[in-house]
Amino acid sequence: MANDSTSIESNSELQKISQVIGSGFNGSWEEKWQQGLTPWDLGKATPIIEHLHQAGALPNGRTLIPGCGRGYDVVAIACPERFVVGLDISDSAIKKAKESSSSSWNASHFIFLKADFFTWNPTELFDLIIDYTFFCAIEPDMRPAWASRMQQLLKPDGELLTLMFPISDHTGGPPYKVSIADYEKVLHPMRFKAVSIVDNEMAIGSRKGREKLGRPKRAYEARSEEFRISDWVCGWMGLCVPSGRISGGVCGLLSGRSLTWAKNLGVSTTQLRMSNNGSSIESNPKVQKLNQIIGSDSAGGWEKSWQQGHTPWDLGKPTPIIQHLHQTGTLPSGKTLVPGCGCGYDVVTIACPERFVVGLDISDSAIKKAKELSSSLWNANHFTFLKEDFFTWNPTELFDLIFDYTFFCAIEPDMRSVWAKRMRHLLKPDGELLTLMFPISDHAGGPPYKVSVADYEEVLHPMGFKAVSIVDNKMAIGPRKGREKLGRWKRTPSKSLL
Ligand SMILES: C[S@@+](CC[C@H](N)C(=O)[O-])C[C@H]1O[C@@H](n2cnc3c(N)ncnc32)[C@H](O)[C@@H]1O
Repeated sequence: MANDSTSIESNSELQKISQVIGSGFNGSWEEKWQQGLTPWDLGKATPIIEHLHQAGALPNGRTLIPGCGRGYDVVAIACPERFVVGLDISDSAIKKAKESSSSSWNASHFIFLKADFFTWNPTELFDLIIDYTFFCAIEPDMRPAWASRMQQLLKPDGELLTLMFPISDHTGGPPYKVSIADYEKVLHPMRFKAVSIVDNEMAIGSRKGREKLGRPKRAYEARSEEFRISDWVCGWMGLCVPSGRISGGVCGLLSGRSLTWAKNLGVSTTQLRMSNNGSSIESNPKVQKLNQIIGSDSAGGWEKSWQQGHTPWDLGKPTPIIQHLHQTGTLPSGKTLVPGCGCGYDVVTIACPERFVVGLDISDSAIKKAKELSSSLWNANHFTFLKEDFFTWNPTELFDLIFDYTFFCAIEPDMRSVWAKRMRHLLKPDGELLTLMFPISDHAGGPPYKVSVADYEEVLHPMGFKAVSIVDNKMAIGPRKGREKLGRWKRTPSKSLL
């Protein structure tokens, strides 16, 4: 039989689950948990969900995992930016989940509740709901009710992530067979449309080829189709184009958080649509004000922008590529500096017992915010935030690694050679400079000022730095895609500065 149409009889895993649960499962989940008959239990977090979390590809905010069982996924994705509720109808499952997670570092970022998904009434809605092996566990005639609950429980711009399993053609269940059409049938009437559906390449063992990852989002009542886009973006690019215009391409990518951001600035959907057609939004006073504030690189300007909350560059989460490099063990250990660290997401992400990270920012408010956001993190001993000017600060020790992202482009271009001198001054002779070069574009003015590989080379080569590698950043976010390159620079010991 084909992989995607295997009968349940020929698949030992499905067969085992089906035998254990039997038909008419009402009331029997608790029994199965009590008897330890839980063949669906992977004994660990679902690799694709863990991966999406680690790659920064999951929305933050309040998250729900219905039918969470022992809660491996709940614990795997809970973090200061994402509070996760694990829900299960079985008392014993919830008890086990609580027991095995009570001493997790992130225990204050999740909770387990014994409740029925179909009748539970939470006090707050969710930004993200993840369904894995829950849709296939309920009776198929409950699926419309499932979709309606998803609509009720999610915020209007929330995301539903479905790991569709088992894609097969067996009869009976649970697990009941599923297909993309089964999800569409109940989700479309609830105004959910799939943003993407892909094979789960990380499916485990016999589940391989039977799982697809679907990311449906709800269509906004007031939002036209042109603003329903697949990914989160930030507003920075919308403001960096010359003359304060939002270009058609960039505007076409505005969605989710940035749409909210634009709305906060008083930019209406109509104005965005106008600018999409090439009309200017420079007459919007709030945008003008933001450009004015950011238009200065003086300490006062940055402080003001932080105080007033005009920080359109702020991703609200770590930069996926730096998180990825850290998690794959491809970052040097030792003392690390992140100049112009802002809220410090990258600082806390790469800080660990092997790497002490200093986050530096000239703005008092940025440093205050970074400290507030990070004070209770498990790795708080492995980073510090300092309010200092990168160009005049004198640390007592040199660094093994310096990471520059959105700092080179934030300073006046005529400060770039001083920037390179400081990099040389602050790094150990064999230290590494990691530059995430952005924005590679040809706009005029700033900040952010346009950058190119040649701009970095021009100032770094005289300081004895040579690029070890320069590659496109495939993990760049939204409109930053295609505009970012990752450069890894080292000093050549023989190069004389005389
Ligand atoms: C474009 S923001 C980027 C913040 C952060 N890297 C991010 O991507 O979210 C630039 C940051 O550099 C800081 N900054 C500007 N000049 C500085 C200086 N001379 N020394 C240290 N920080 C500075 C600003 O306060 C601001 O937080």
